[in-house]
Amino acid sequence: MNYLSLNQTELISIAQQKIIEVFPKEEQHTDIYYIEKKNYSYFSAMWYFKAEIITPDLIQNLTQNAALLSVGCGEGHLERLLNKGFDIPKKNIHTSDLYLDQKIFQAGFRHHLFDLTSPWPNLKKKFDYILFPESLGVALLKHDPSRKQQDITFRFFNYLEQTQKEILGGNLNPPDLTFFLEVVEKDVPRVTIIYNILKQAISFLKPQGEIRIKHGLQEPQQRAYIMAKLAQEYQQITYPNQTKSYENFILKMA
Ligand SMILES: C[S@@+](CC[C@H](N)C(=O)[O-])C[C@H]1O[C@@H](n2cnc3c(N)ncnc32)[C@H](O)[C@@H]1O
Repeated sequence: MNYLSLNQTELISIAQQKIIEVFPKEEQHTDIYYIEKKNYSYFSAMWYFKAEIITPDLIQNLTQNAALLSVGCGEGHLERLLNKGFDIPKKNIHTSDLYLDQKIFQAGFRHHLFDLTSPWPNLKKKFDYILFPESLGVALLKHDPSRKQQDITFRFFNYLEQTQKEILGGNLNPPDLTFFLEVVEKDVPRVTIIYNILKQAISFLKPQGEIRIKHGLQEPQQRAYIMAKLAQEYQQITYPNQTKSYENFILKMA
């Protein structure tokens, strides 16, 4: 099947059918689901199709030998559907998390154990896609457990907001960028953590590779910081598809 000929709605209904085909009844999740034994909430593969972070072009490329790293895969409902339902070879799906879930173990993916907020190990491979499926926001909680740090700075707000608008509108090098970066960096510590995480992820991306984040970088000021700061370091970076929702963040290397 050529997935590029499908629109997102058609892809969603195919994913829905495949969930029924490949998973036993108790695993036919369609939304967020809670595993009591683990005291953890996980997300159905459908969650990611509906959010448009998993799209026809990504599926098409994976079926044609592109490689995916999923960071913070949990029990990997999505990753297992990609393999079993969409016939994406196991060798093209690498997973990672702080632990090895039994279901991921059984699925037989190459699995990497590491903390995504610490220095990453040498993964000995580069990927076409690095996905953070509802994991970045969760991982960042560790750095601010009492949630005391601010998500946004209101200092010089009108001034900073103008720069933010320009960046989000596509100008990655607006006139007052240095000031914007300095103030946000000082007042919102999480931007430096996110920046360092993404720099590590980028080091494992192939040319033309993409990082796709579902949840964790939805605050516009933080997005603007990350977009402009990374663009200073990587001239070939672009930010496609920034439309659907700020729950999604996508970056691509040229
Ligand atoms: C809400 S769950 C989502 C799991 C899975 N992607 C899904 O969609 O069901 C968040 C996942 O992020 C992982 N995680 C949290 N902090 C992490 C860290 N510092 N490094 C790596 N993974 C982390 C958790 O272990 C968990 O599997």
